[in-house]
Amino acid sequence: MSSLLSVRGLSKLFTSGLFVKRQVWALKGVSFDIKEGEIFSLVGESGSGKTTAGKVILRLEKPTEGEVHFEGRDIFSYGREYTRLVSAVFQDPRASLNPRMKVYEIVEEPLLVHGVKDRRERVINALKRAGLDESFLERKPESLSGGQRQRVAIARAVVLNPKLIVADEPTSALDMSYRAGILELFLKLRHEGISTLLITHDLRAVERVADRVGVLYRGRLLELGPAKGVINQPLHPYTQYLVSTLPVKHPSQRRELVAKPEDYMPDSPCPFFHKCDKRLKDCESGVKEVSIDGRIVSCNLY
Ligand SMILES: Nc1ncnc2c1ncn2[C@@H]1O[C@H](COP(=O)(O)OP(=O)(O)OP(=O)(O)O)[C@@H](O)[C@H]1O
Ligand SMILES: [Mg+2]
Repeated sequence: MSSLLSVRGLSKLFTSGLFVKRQVWALKGVSFDIKEGEIFSLVGESGSGKTTAGKVILRLEKPTEGEVHFEGRDIFSYGREYTRLVSAVFQDPRASLNPRMKVYEIVEEPLLVHGVKDRRERVINALKRAGLDESFLERKPESLSGGQRQRVAIARAVVLNPKLIVADEPTSALDMSYRAGILELFLKLRHEGISTLLITHDLRAVERVADRVGVLYRGRLLELGPAKGVINQPLHPYTQYLVSTLPVKHPSQRRELVAKPEDYMPDSPCPFFHKCDKRLKDCESGVKEVSIDGRIVSCNLY
């Protein structure tokens, strides 16, 4: 599989506050590729930089440092056609779908923006790809279930036949009963050749549908590799901690939690240093990135 999207050394600094300035590196030196026809997932706890990465890829934010290339070209060198190639699905379809518009109008909108003809046929086709039929055309979002609303959002995302969908927490606002169906849809789209960047904090969803996963923590990519391998045999102590927070079938399977931060702790280039129970003396001075069996890990243990 060749690379569709390539993220290199991506950093994003946010400055907020009127009087007291607060600066946050939402991303720091993040690199990964999304291949053609794969589901690539970014996981990490709240505030780790997942949405920021998605927004840069959608060109909703500009990087402070680094570059993103789509099919070998800087994404900011594309014109409007970029929104045809890369589309988005957001967390809450209640917020992302205009309540005054009918399903037909919602899904038709990107076609109008790009001046595409034969719209009705394309809208119906997109709805079908999202698992809905023609009977939904005249309905409004308020008359739909959460799962159906998210399917409408996905129909809108595929109506221009994009090559990549950036899906930011597409299932977390939905009832459990709808989640599996929406995840299955991304697998179906992958079968049709559409890649997905699946942004989520749900490791079970990653294990179920993603081909590869990148683990973000405080804006840094700590581990990258095949999804099942990373989840079943995490290498980075932070990934091990994340996996340990997953519900287990029996208490004996529960992994030990990481050490609590001590009172005094020197600074470290590793963002997990203060909480890491496996930290080494040399973590204070630098962190090396190693490649093990198709996995990339930023940790001095390896
Ligand atoms: N527009 C902004 N202005 C200032 N700070 C921001 C802005 N957007 C994000 N941040 C900060 O950047 C960091 C990363 O945020 P981001 O939304 O990317 O995280 P996330 O991994 O998507 O979290 P969540 O799981 O809660 O959605 C956070 O510290 C956040 O407060
Ligand atoms: Mg987010």
